[in-house]
Amino acid sequence: MEVSVVLVLFFFTFLFFVQSINCSGFTPVDVFLIDCGGSNPVEVDGSRVFRPDNSFRNVKLSPSSGIVVSGDVINGLSNSALYSSVRIFEKTSVYVIGTKQIGRHWLRLHFFPVQNTRYSLKSAVFSVMANGITLHRFSFSKSSQNSPVMKEYVIEIGDSGLELKFSPSNGSVAFVNGIEVVALPDTNFPSGVVPVPFGPEVEIPKRVAFETVYRINMGGPVLTPKNDSMWRTWETDQAYLISAASANNVSVNPNLIKYIDGVSAEIAPNSVYATAQEMAEANVTDQRFNISWRFDVDEGFTYFIRLHFCDIVSTVLNNLIFNVYINKQSALTSFDISSKTMVLSAAYYADFVTNVSMGSNRILVQVGPPDFRNLPTNAILNGLEIMKMSNPCGSLVGNLCEIRKKSKFPRRKLVALAISSAVVFAVLVFVVAALLLRLHRPKKPKRCPSTWFSLPTNVGNSDSKVSICSLASTAQSHGLGRVLSFAEIREATKNFDESLVIGVGGFGKVYKGVLENGVMVAVKRGNPGSRQGLTEFRTEILMLSRLRHRHLVSLIGYCEEQNEMILVYEFMAGGPLRKHLYGSNLPSLSWKQRLEICIGAAKGLHYLHTGASDTIIHRDVKTTNILLDENFTAKVADFGLSKLGPTLDQTHVSTAVKGSFGYLDPEYFRRQQLTEKSDVYSFGVVLMEILCARPAINPALPREQVNIAEWGMYWQKRGQLQRIIDSNLVGLINIDSLRKFGETAEKCLAEHGVERPTMGDVLWNLEYALQLQEASIQNDSSDNSAKHIPEIPGWIPQVESVDTDRYDIVSDQVASDATTTSDVFSQIMDPRGR
Ligand SMILES: *[C@@H]1O[C@H](CO)[C@@H](O)[C@H](O)[C@H]1NC(C)=O
Ligand SMILES: *[C@@H]1O[C@H](CO)[C@@H](O)[C@H](O)[C@H]1NC(C)=O
Ligand SMILES: *[C@@H]1O[C@H](CO)[C@@H](O)[C@H](O)[C@H]1NC(C)=O
Ligand SMILES: *[C@@H]1O[C@H](CO)[C@@H](O)[C@H](O)[C@H]1NC(C)=O
Ligand SMILES: *[C@@H]1O[C@H](CO)[C@@H](O)[C@H](O)[C@H]1NC(C)=O
Ligand SMILES: *[C@@H]1O[C@H](CO)[C@@H](O)[C@H](O)[C@H]1NC(C)=O
Repeated sequence: MEVSVVLVLFFFTFLFFVQSINCSGFTPVDVFLIDCGGSNPVEVDGSRVFRPDNSFRNVKLSPSSGIVVSGDVINGLSNSALYSSVRIFEKTSVYVIGTKQIGRHWLRLHFFPVQNTRYSLKSAVFSVMANGITLHRFSFSKSSQNSPVMKEYVIEIGDSGLELKFSPSNGSVAFVNGIEVVALPDTNFPSGVVPVPFGPEVEIPKRVAFETVYRINMGGPVLTPKNDSMWRTWETDQAYLISAASANNVSVNPNLIKYIDGVSAEIAPNSVYATAQEMAEANVTDQRFNISWRFDVDEGFTYFIRLHFCDIVSTVLNNLIFNVYINKQSALTSFDISSKTMVLSAAYYADFVTNVSMGSNRILVQVGPPDFRNLPTNAILNGLEIMKMSNPCGSLVGNLCEIRKKSKFPRRKLVALAISSAVVFAVLVFVVAALLLRLHRPKKPKRCPSTWFSLPTNVGNSDSKVSICSLASTAQSHGLGRVLSFAEIREATKNFDESLVIGVGGFGKVYKGVLENGVMVAVKRGNPGSRQGLTEFRTEILMLSRLRHRHLVSLIGYCEEQNEMILVYEFMAGGPLRKHLYGSNLPSLSWKQRLEICIGAAKGLHYLHTGASDTIIHRDVKTTNILLDENFTAKVADFGLSKLGPTLDQTHVSTAVKGSFGYLDPEYFRRQQLTEKSDVYSFGVVLMEILCARPAINPALPREQVNIAEWGMYWQKRGQLQRIIDSNLVGLINIDSLRKFGETAEKCLAEHGVERPTMGDVLWNLEYALQLQEASIQNDSSDNSAKHIPEIPGWIPQVESVDTDRYDIVSDQVASDATTTSDVFSQIMDPRGR
């Protein structure tokens, strides 16, 4: 009996232990909650206890202990216990707080001018410095209201602790009511941030201090320190919204918010992500406006801006795509939260820095619909933090940081110095030039130790930083994809001449170019400075560097210099297959040409699945990713989403669903298990698209026709596929060839992967369909009664009913542009541009 009780107890203790390990969030090493001048512990925000400053072993005050004044507890003032006592300094005094953790800490200072007979605290003027950084020049008199002031900072603290200095101006006094010092997770602030306007990543050195100027819970209530594991306060956004009518607040149960991929409650509590402002009347088609918030800030400082997003408004992935602007400059373009999180209701944040120049004293944050119009127009923002960064003089106050070095030299000496330095400079340039010339002669790329080379086994998914050197050596060991210098690429594209742009997309622009050796290339350049799509970029290099096949687009080289992500491919003069099917004025392809293109693409995919040492799953098979060269040879492109397939002991790879609408294998979508049969399904959609010359998804059509896979299967199962084929093919397809083709597509589109054929089988069937067609043509010349499909009178070709301009808009292409950053290349290879 007793034994079992003990066992049960033990079991529960164990459970509790396990649970507390699992659920334990971040526990700060340093927590100093100091009530300055207090005599008893006081409870603040109903959640924390501040202790008197003289009760801490690790908090020292020098040289004077100042004067303690206690006032009345003021009714109606929250936390009035903390504000009822204050420590006043008549001369400069320093708190030294012995923190344990080295790194960034929250520093919060609480001020309230306690009523007393000796000092007029309301007119006190003083400054506060922390570890040498000027935080604040305090002058309470300006704020007429008799309310407490809380200032929050983030400051780096080394091993000698925090030195907090209060310096009264002459004749005045300094004072403080409460001090909080709390360690924060290392990961809360990045070491480098993308600036707006776009440029190379800006480094944020540790010594930079931040001051929180705004922390907003969009569309939600005020959150008090009690609601936040880091004891932050979040305001509402109403006061900053430029047009209240432009936004609707939305909210969900905070428990529904998911934290994934390094985002945690220490970044922002779930109550922030659970509310948002969205565009008012977002359901009205084609709303074109931004939601704008305006924040007054101090000019001449750099601000750190963190935007919190969580898609709590969508019901499906990839449906909410919008733009974000900071001070009217693009911060996020065609931003799709779900492409980052892969699930709805998941927390995500993005950081930026921006300079607020002299003469300007506001930060304008805007969210609005993307530039293309086929999607539901909506945009959201869940939370926003704006933090001022200390300037190079180590100050968070003052207008100008002038590090002016007074010239100590008289003029004549300066001239002499200038001349002599010019001479030295000229000599140096000469020497360097000579050296460079010598070095350049044997054009050998930098070698890496061969041990560096190891291919990540899970390329598509891994965010692992593959060093450029390892990539280079992979590429070289295969004799493929050389590293090109930025200068070479710039030359090839005439310094990225806009007239050479053959396409634009989420990833960036694609230029036509000519290399030094005369080879025509397509140059895909990621948005400069943006590291978005880095994973896809590297996947593409890794994949293409190990593959070479007549039916795969080859990678000629790449460049990852100066924050650039550039891929250089062979130029495909014919552009994407899709352009030849619909939505352009290109001549219609014959059935034979179409079959040959299908066969080419099938060969490329078959090689991917079986030819290389590992199975490779393309994951984004579609008509824009099949490119044609000048002879209409089909090549499969865009490996940004590719993954190595299951190894022998696995049957599938588990992965987040990626790909393009209309082409996605339903089984993969349901079970998130990827096999090469998912490519087979997508290829089945491609076959239907080629036969019917219409987009995979065309929302403009009646409901039952929207999805070509469903519509095609409907007629195939009735044996009447000929009713929906491209009108240009009517009367020109041999009926047996069509039957074979239809059966092949049907098998590819089977519900379950195991029922679908391999690419090898598909290839064989397509070749057979081609033979049937060829044979019929030969028969034709002798025998006119060939078994061609007769024209069916009275039918309505689906394709003609949609005008060409709308094609590009309503098609899946636009949606997928925004969803995967990687598919830009393929669809824009049309040399004529759009
Ligand atoms: C502080 O004292 C100095 C000299 O004692 C004086 O020049 C200055 O004007 C005073 N500043 C203020 C703000 O009173
Ligand atoms: C802001 O301005 C400073 C000085 O002009 C410059 O050094 C810094 O790079 C700028 N930062 C950004 C984010 O533009
Ligand atoms: C949400 O909007 C409604 C009506 O527009 C308003 O009454 C309410 O105060 C808002 N809630 C928040 C938290 O802003
Ligand atoms: C914040 O905390 C208070 C007190 O615990 C609670 O009543 C309130 O519901 C919380 N608010 C949110 C949005 O979580
Ligand atoms: C759009 O929203 C408005 C109010 O927000 C509502 O009255 C209207 O019924 C909605 N329209 C549709 C089509 O959902
Ligand atoms: C949103 O704001 C940006 C920058 O201020 C502007 O360029 C864009 O045209 C605006 N969009 C709409 C739809 O008004």
